[in-house]
Amino acid sequence: MYTIIGANGFLGSYLIRSILANTSDNIVAAARGVEGLACDERVRPLRCDVTSPGDVLELAEAMSGKEPCKVFYLAAYHNIDGVEQNPKAAWAVNITALASFLGAIDPPACLFFSSTDCVYGDGRIEHRFTEKDTLEPLGHYGSQKAAAECLVTACGGHALRLPYMFGPSLSPQKKHFYDKIIDDLKHGTSVRLFTDAVRSALDYATVADMAVRLAEKAVCERVPNVLNLCSDEALSKYDLGLRLAKKEALPEKLILPVEMREDHEIFQAKRAGVCLMDNTLLKQTLGLRELKMSM
Ligand SMILES: NC(=O)c1ccc[n+]([C@@H]2O[C@H](COP(=O)([O-])OP(=O)(O)OC[C@H]3O[C@@H](n4cnc5c(N)ncnc54)[C@H](OP(=O)(O)O)[C@@H]3O)[C@@H](O)[C@H]2O)c1
Repeated sequence: MYTIIGANGFLGSYLIRSILANTSDNIVAAARGVEGLACDERVRPLRCDVTSPGDVLELAEAMSGKEPCKVFYLAAYHNIDGVEQNPKAAWAVNITALASFLGAIDPPACLFFSSTDCVYGDGRIEHRFTEKDTLEPLGHYGSQKAAAECLVTACGGHALRLPYMFGPSLSPQKKHFYDKIIDDLKHGTSVRLFTDAVRSALDYATVADMAVRLAEKAVCERVPNVLNLCSDEALSKYDLGLRLAKKEALPEKLILPVEMREDHEIFQAKRAGVCLMDNTLLKQTLGLRELKMSM
């Protein structure tokens, strides 16, 4: 059995789809709002706000069957500007609630936590961060994810350092930036995208499929406790916008290049310019030759 905490999010929805397609397991889909969760007899929705001790106890109870669970913990306060402005509220979700959950559950079969490339801080185009690099996060979001990784790995869990993820939302209730770009282009509205914020970006579907493969493997074999789960490619949001316009046959000329270092409107909190990750360890673990965005 799988349990996903934060199952109604972008990645959570893709994980549900991947687990249903690639395994025969049932899923406990825990989320603050369960409306819009995938309708399938193998999916059991469970309302859970991770900051509510009562909800966490109920979730721990739902997970305590005869068979240990494979767990994906995705719930996070993860709007980078929001975390910077409200670090205490973010701490309550990202650290305190996670610690309470880890303390409440029976030992799982495996547990994967969604960390981020933001734990590394600012990088260079010539260097891809490996899992052994020193962590120098630029703000509260990256620092809280780094602290959360320690909690998770101390309990035998795994941290997946994820890059910027891009893809259509599977939820009718919320649109991803991907969907908003398509809407704008369809309406003839231009979209300004950064050329100098470069990441090892991947699409949600590929991240979800790799994460499920790792969980299936972790049940019977050793999987490294910290892994960069990212693409071979180095892509800016401008590159992604151009690819999307091309894929959807929408006007590429409406994708306008802007530089993050010169823009003071789109983002408030400081972000890394370049932050590329090395995925050698992931590829060795899963026996992959290459890993690229499926777009
Ligand atoms: N998006 C990226 O590019 C990216 C990159 C690296 C790492 N990550 C990490 O990947 C994970 C999934 O991100 P995503 O892109 O799928 O974004 P998302 O859709 O916003 O997922 C975050 C999830 O956390 C849930 N959540 C927040 N507070 C909660 C609470 N108190 N109780 C229960 N659930 C709560 C949200 O539920 P509500 O809908 O109810 O708010 C949402 O389902 C996050 O941990 C994020 O930090 C994302």
